[in-house]
Amino acid sequence: MPKEITLKELNTDLFIAEKVSEIKSIVGDGMAINALSGGVDSSVVTMLGHKALGNQLRTVFVENGLMREGEAEQVVGFFKKLGVTVEVIDARKEFFDALKGITNPEEKREAITQTFYRKVFGRIVKESGAKYLLQGTILTDIDETVAGIKRQHNVFEQLGIDPLTTFGYKIIEPLVQLRKEGVRKTGKALGLPAALFDRIPFPGPAFAARVIGAVTPEKVETVRKATVIVERLLKNSGAFQYLAILHEDRVTGMRDGKRDFGQQIEIRCWDSTDARKATPTRLSFDILGKMGSEIVQNVPGVVSVTYNITSKPPSTIEAI
Ligand code: XMP
Repeated sequence: MPKEITLKELNTDLFIAEKVSEIKSIVGDGMAINALSGGVDSSVVTMLGHKALGNQLRTVFVENGLMREGEAEQVVGFFKKLGVTVEVIDARKEFFDALKGITNPEEKREAITQTFYRKVFGRIVKESGAKYLLQGTILTDIDETVAGIKRQHNVFEQLGIDPLTTFGYKIIEPLVQLRKEGVRKTGKALGLPAALFDRIPFPGPAFAARVIGAVTPEKVETVRKATVIVERLLKNSGAFQYLAILHEDRVTGMRDGKRDFGQQIEIRCWDSTDARKATPTRLSFDILGKMGSEIVQNVPGVVSVTYNITSKPPSTIEAI
């Protein structure tokens, strides 16, 4: 296990200088690829990578079809302002093909992992001649994978998987000693705008972690639409993370005076500091009611909205 650098211990200037020189010495005069999803972790890694490697680094955003509304354009725009060019790779078909018919959560995560690392990055690395992939794995990702809670999509070494022999490239993970708060502090020190380092966490498997049962483009669109509403209405809640989940079970509802056997959205909103433990935020009934009615009015097919009232553990933050 990597040795933790606690928030108290973290000296961001020192940390940044150390990581920049580490990345430089590993990559040398070669090329590296950097996987940017637009989340806090990968945004911080992108800035570290650019400080270290400049144009020896190619930053890619993989459009897997599972991301939030407008995410690709938003991320490209944010980084353009910071002087970083982000290449968007369209891999939607590959991801939906790989996920087809899979209902088991761990199998879904495995399908995502294989598509990201073997297929998509494998191909980019081969084409570009890069030998390194820079990514934003943090200590919490490793903890939970090693503890057997969830196989996080981006953890290999601690499971005895060598990316070089498995995928054909090495993985550099500058943030493995940090937890979320430390990553945010580093992001701030690197000059990232608050809109980036203050973003709520979003998981690597994206909406595949928030659709119960088989993942289809239609189901992803449903949860995506609900997420727009949840994120807008909870933006100022001060919560650690908030999300919508699409359930597989249907319930009887009514629409326009007729029976509508429709879908159910579950809202989760968490108070937490590091995602290891979390409790549901005590949202007002006004805000809950507003989310409920906006979702049933604006998300086709949804007739029921619920709010999660259990803590982690035994719940987890995401649904799969
Ligand atoms: P869970 O659901 O395990 O989530 O309580 C803990 C935190 O990690 C995020 N998460 C992930 N992040 N890859 C990631 O990069 C993953 O596979 C993954 N699964 C969950 C989740 O959003 C929460 O902040």
